[in-house]
Amino acid sequence: MNIPASSTFRKLTPLEKKAFWESFIDKTGLSVASASQEQFNLADILVEQAVGICVVPLGLASGFLIDGKAYIIPLAVEEPSVIAAAGYGAHIIAQGGGFTTRAEASIAESYIYIEQSDISALEHIDTAKLRNLLAPVLARLENRGGGLRDIKTYWLHETKLIAVELAIDVCDAMGANIVNTAAETVKPYLESVTKGKALMCILSNASTNRKAQAEFFLPFEKLAPFCKGFSAEDTARRIVLATQLANEDPNRAVTHNKGIMNGIAALALATMNDTRAIEAQAHAWSARNGKLESLSDFSVQAGGLYGKLELPLACGTVGGSIDLHPGAQAALKLLGNPDSRQLARIAAAVGLAQNFAALLALVTTGIQSGHMKYHAARIAYKAGARGEEARTIGAQLALEKNYSLERAQELLCKLRENLNG
Ligand code: MEV
Repeated sequence: MNIPASSTFRKLTPLEKKAFWESFIDKTGLSVASASQEQFNLADILVEQAVGICVVPLGLASGFLIDGKAYIIPLAVEEPSVIAAAGYGAHIIAQGGGFTTRAEASIAESYIYIEQSDISALEHIDTAKLRNLLAPVLARLENRGGGLRDIKTYWLHETKLIAVELAIDVCDAMGANIVNTAAETVKPYLESVTKGKALMCILSNASTNRKAQAEFFLPFEKLAPFCKGFSAEDTARRIVLATQLANEDPNRAVTHNKGIMNGIAALALATMNDTRAIEAQAHAWSARNGKLESLSDFSVQAGGLYGKLELPLACGTVGGSIDLHPGAQAALKLLGNPDSRQLARIAAAVGLAQNFAALLALVTTGIQSGHMKYHAARIAYKAGARGEEARTIGAQLALEKNYSLERAQELLCKLRENLNG
């Protein structure tokens, strides 16, 4: 298939573009990887130049006890161990009473940057005037309890830009649209009063005033059954040391935090939140002291292990793609239709469960035995095994530590022969 010139491609109708994409999908995979008419209609309205859907597995992690309430968490992710690990971590943490969580208000910030002006122009910016200009744009938000919370102005010395920050409570939305609209609304006034020219108007994904936190305490006697040959005390000590390691060595911090985001990004995707914004704010927050550090904190306290995770989490439960996507709606319903702060609290608990499960495995048995089991099942699938067959053959491959396709095919033949008598 030749790749058409961009100008030709853009002129194709949506269905022609879809057919072009599907010509790349192997025939046997068409029913899985091509969009039905309904799915295509949805994709077409969610993104421009849509050609189909990208099938990412969705799983449910059970065992979460968050602020005294049981949750089953929908997670969309391609990595095999993530959902099982989140549920396993949550299950152990529930033995000690589960997670306690909290979240700050949903404050989002947008910025107007003005060039060709002067530091003295800061004095001419009238915040009362800005509030008046913003009132009609933010009226609906104010009716829902949100609205403008703060205005800051400052001078950026290196670039010689004026910066105007609008801090807005966006209620249950992620808020990008409304804060960007607000910034563009006041741009003409700011240009005229500063006698400058706006370079750009845009939100910041930093979201440092929108943090969520989850914590737990696990007495040693509750941790002990899961320590695989180590004592609970030593396991807890090693988990604490693993966190100190992430704080000292940025190479480890990247992976430590990636493990946390395994769960958070999967929940964000399942609920059609902006995964890139959520990743960006988490990693920026982890580098706030000038060096990448652990997002989580573990310590040994009063006869047990204490774990805590705090990070900015700009989650939405309305707006964007969330309202339109039936999968996102179902995921939110499963979570009890949380507001955005509650979703952020759940996400923090998921991240902490994920991190705890990873550290527990890493400092005891190591993670590879678990991971190879999933890898083996995938080899079995490649060999043609489906459903229970793939799991049975995968388990056998893992037992034999033989991960070859040939062995998987052999085992599949034998299994089917035995079944057919
Ligand atoms: C794998 O997706 C995540 C881990 O690497 C996280 C970690 O090392 O903490 C297991």
